[in-house]
Amino acid sequence: MKYILTTKKKNKKFKALITAGPTREYIDPVRFITNRSSGKQGYEIAKSFRDNGFETTLISGQTNLDPLSGLNFVKVETAQEMFDQTIKNLPADVAVFTAAVADYKVTNYENKKIKKKENLNLYLEKNIDILSNISKHNYLRPKLTIGFAAETNNLIKNSLKKLEEKNCDWIVANDVSNNSIGFDSDENQISIFYRDKEKENLKKMSKSLIASELVDRVIKTLN
Ligand code: PMT
Repeated sequence: MKYILTTKKKNKKFKALITAGPTREYIDPVRFITNRSSGKQGYEIAKSFRDNGFETTLISGQTNLDPLSGLNFVKVETAQEMFDQTIKNLPADVAVFTAAVADYKVTNYENKKIKKKENLNLYLEKNIDILSNISKHNYLRPKLTIGFAAETNNLIKNSLKKLEEKNCDWIVANDVSNNSIGFDSDENQISIFYRDKEKENLKKMSKSLIASELVDRVIKTLN
């Protein structure tokens, strides 16, 4: 009798979670505080994970981009909603936090439209930090937790501080003072700061290419 030995590799399906786009913090039912994030960078990263066979969840703030198919697409408005959906959709092997989450929320929210007046005082309190909460979570922390740093100055110093304080494995830094990269542009230029203090500078390229460069590095790290 002839025996044929097959060595079929088990193709483990990794899970990825990405946050993208801006969050909104309401002042009254029709007005809110937000920022310039278009969601483009996060959507490209989600597409790249999906196209590389990851079981992908994209948690998106309100953007003008079309919803993505072939992945678990979750739309949210506020930071609290983004946090709740992140918790609900973990665990994952890798999470990439590209969302521009509003750092503050309004404490004197009015549930009726505020009438026009000479002066309006808004009271703000610190919002929940989604990345910090997840990266310090005792059982939901993904094996690879990647934050982004949107900086206008002191990019290296501020990014290293975020890497440390937010307990990330990698921080991807971009200079958002330059309109041709960062917020709402089709291109970006990033530096990756790794936990072991290594740093990598990537040249300026499309957000789609940035996404595949990043996902390639994730795949190498997870395997
Ligand atoms: O959306 P685009 O127009 O394509 O632009 C892409 C981008 C510039 C938004 C993106 O590349 C980027 O830099 N994303 C991070 C934006 C940001 O808010 O950075 P930050 O340095 O303030 O925050 C640091 C990290 O903490 C980020 O991973 C952020 O998602 C996370 N964070 C921040 C505050 C908060 N309350 N919760 C968080 O999870």
